[in-house]
Amino acid sequence: MNMKTLLYSCLLLIPMMAQAQFTPNYEEQKVPNFTLPDVLVRFNGKKIKNAKKWEKKRRPEILGFFERTVYGQVPGSLDNVSFTLLESDKNALNGKAHRKQIEVLLTKNGKSLSFTLLVYTPKNRQNVPVFLGYNFYGNHTITNDTMVEVPKAWSLNNEDFGVLDHIPTEKSRGVRTNRWDLNNILEGGFGLATIFYGEVDPDKDDFSDGLHALFYEEEQERPHPEEWGSIAAWAFGLSRALDYLETDPDIDGTKVIAFGHSRLGKASLWAGATDERFAAVVSNNSGCGGAALSKRQFGETIARINTNFPHWFATNFKEYNEKEMELPVDQHQLLALIAPRPLYVASAHEDQWADPRGEFLSAHYASAVYQLYTINGVETMAMPQLNTPMMNALSYHIRTGIHDVTAYDWEQYIRWAQKYVAP
Ligand code: GCU
Repeated sequence: MNMKTLLYSCLLLIPMMAQAQFTPNYEEQKVPNFTLPDVLVRFNGKKIKNAKKWEKKRRPEILGFFERTVYGQVPGSLDNVSFTLLESDKNALNGKAHRKQIEVLLTKNGKSLSFTLLVYTPKNRQNVPVFLGYNFYGNHTITNDTMVEVPKAWSLNNEDFGVLDHIPTEKSRGVRTNRWDLNNILEGGFGLATIFYGEVDPDKDDFSDGLHALFYEEEQERPHPEEWGSIAAWAFGLSRALDYLETDPDIDGTKVIAFGHSRLGKASLWAGATDERFAAVVSNNSGCGGAALSKRQFGETIARINTNFPHWFATNFKEYNEKEMELPVDQHQLLALIAPRPLYVASAHEDQWADPRGEFLSAHYASAVYQLYTINGVETMAMPQLNTPMMNALSYHIRTGIHDVTAYDWEQYIRWAQKYVAP
């Protein structure tokens, strides 16, 4: 081989090596050995023995770590939050539901941002428990109801849904009804409240828009390294929606369940962790940076998520790219921050990218905190069979199929919420 060919082969190897580094691991035998930080042992080594000590000592330090290093801190508070009822119909969905669309207006430093909350409650019912969660492409995608407004905020493109040039369109009305089992939610005695996540913070690596910009000091252009990324902004938006829900007599503000799928499941978990007014949380296929344990490095990893989605987490989190073992926390501790409130973690068998086993083990290890309250969680380390939920206040299931939200998932969430959230 002459010098030229050698040099050429080396040049070819470099991108291949970079690629190999990023090839996701999907083999259980290749999961590295690791010691999970004990949820009940403080950073100073002291053991936590009861719920009181958990709440006073351990919970705040875990929350603080996740705030500063993973999702990022919210820099201050809003000057004002106000609500305007844009529209309502007591005979929506063929007389089954009461529909409302509410503008939530957030003001800070003379700047403002608004988002529209779509709420359905069972007809002629008051004080109902409600599932609150974001949707990916607009409120109008979750139903065929023609009265639901098409949002104007920046959207991810999706050719199948007719979203080109990042503009939500009428064409996508109803395209995501499959992910929102509205009829069964209402028949189960629950309301549904949803928001288009792009209205709170557009899902792109651009910190000039969305919620972050409201909080900037003069000439600031992006959050400081310990400050919030998009997931924390979305979680904050859920809390502002909860501010509204607490004022609505049709809704029981003490029974609002934060629900989310995938990246929005990460946001619902973080909302439940940071805002204890949420009565319960559902994490549907939330994966890396959500329910799944990071130290397993199975499927999506910290480096991968921080590279593909540099805006989701605090800049500080990038320090742990390919350094999972050095991270003094793991995601089971995020789940534990929800305790003793009911929590449902769900995986899908074909969604290996989200590491179902890592999601399951995370729920298992979080159960130690539920036990302090004598509440049952995921006690065993053996994963359940497919489509066989382990149902307790802290529940888990893995269903057949792909990364998605299905009628099967909703059937379990409704049943669980009827038992543990609104008995
Ligand atoms: C990507 C990302 C995941 C995320 C998912 C989603 O696959 O890597 O972390 O959960 O998108 O939000 O659909």
